[in-house]
Amino acid sequence: MATVKKVLPRRLVGLATLRAVSTSSVGTFPKQVKIVEVGPRDGLQNEKNIVPTPVKIKLIDMLSEAGLPVVEATSFVSPKWVPQMADHAEVLKGIQKFPGVNYPVLTPNFKGFQAAVAAGAKEVAIFGAASELFTKKNINCSIDESLQRFDEILKAARAASISVRGYVSCVLGCPYEGKISPAKVAEVTKKLYSMGCYEISLGDTIGVGTPGAMKDMLSAVLQEVPGTALAVHCHDTYGQALANTLTALQMGVSVMDSSVAGLGGCPYAQGASGNLATEDLVYMLAGLGIHTGVNLQKLLEAGAFICQALNRRTNSKVAQATCKL
Ligand code: HMG
Ligand code: MG
Repeated sequence: MATVKKVLPRRLVGLATLRAVSTSSVGTFPKQVKIVEVGPRDGLQNEKNIVPTPVKIKLIDMLSEAGLPVVEATSFVSPKWVPQMADHAEVLKGIQKFPGVNYPVLTPNFKGFQAAVAAGAKEVAIFGAASELFTKKNINCSIDESLQRFDEILKAARAASISVRGYVSCVLGCPYEGKISPAKVAEVTKKLYSMGCYEISLGDTIGVGTPGAMKDMLSAVLQEVPGTALAVHCHDTYGQALANTLTALQMGVSVMDSSVAGLGGCPYAQGASGNLATEDLVYMLAGLGIHTGVNLQKLLEAGAFICQALNRRTNSKVAQATCKL
């Protein structure tokens, strides 16, 4: 949107094309970070009003255009459970598939996996949790049952050369069980890794974590799974998401989930707010000289587009800062 460009301060424009930013490592930070954009799925799944399919498709295309290497597109879950994702096949078929961009979709069970593959998915994400009660509320089974379902998906995916990402939710707290032990998180993460997930995203689903809790949890997980196979996925309920993500970065994790405009939430985690805003993450990483390949200007335009479509104010501090200038 032209208006966003007009008000963008010179300093931000300079950061917008990150290819220009030095890729030398700063301290113990990695040279490069992969951002997994979850806005079209995590950001929209919680919206009460059904977002029109063409709006979702345009958002995903704009995010791809902005240079995000991974855009989580939708969920092949039950439309009775999550009506907002009922148009999953139309969304996946309707988006432009940018070369080099991955478009994973959530699949809770074999039925969802089959539907995703039929709609052209090349990558799926299975989603478990470190909490029994959350697993029951979210996907209606126990942790053990969920792992059996995921194993079926992983075997079929391997045969079809489809990559599988894994999620572990509630890694820093559960809306039903409260505190979750780092040992439990490590146990579930290790199982998903040994079953064949190439990457496991550790979700602070309700955004209650702090850098100290992130450090304790990651220290336990890193004893079982290499940092190169981990990602973090921080909701920002308590305003800790950027600090928690930075902590993970300092501990060797170089894949970060975030959501354009800070949209997000989970229908089965009431009170949880949106994810870390991708704009804010890109801004911080650019400031550290870490390469992401994301064009901040185009990302801001995608954020402005979806906020206008949803008739809501952005949760991104970077986008808000630009608007004031
Ligand atoms: P269920 O009711 O136990 O399933 O739901 P079922 O096997 O008993 O089947 C019941 C009906 O659902 C049947 O239809 C099935 O065909 C249908 P009916 O005969 O009644 O007409 N069904 C499906 N339809 C479409 N797609 C499917 C599917 N499976 C069954 N895949 C189920 C179990 C897992 C399906 C349900 O609990 C579900 O869909 N849950 C999804 C919950 C969800 O999407 N949560 C949000 C994503 S997780 C998240 O946000 C956290 C994350 O961001 C990380 C973090 O923040 O921590 C990832
Ligand atoms: Mg989430």
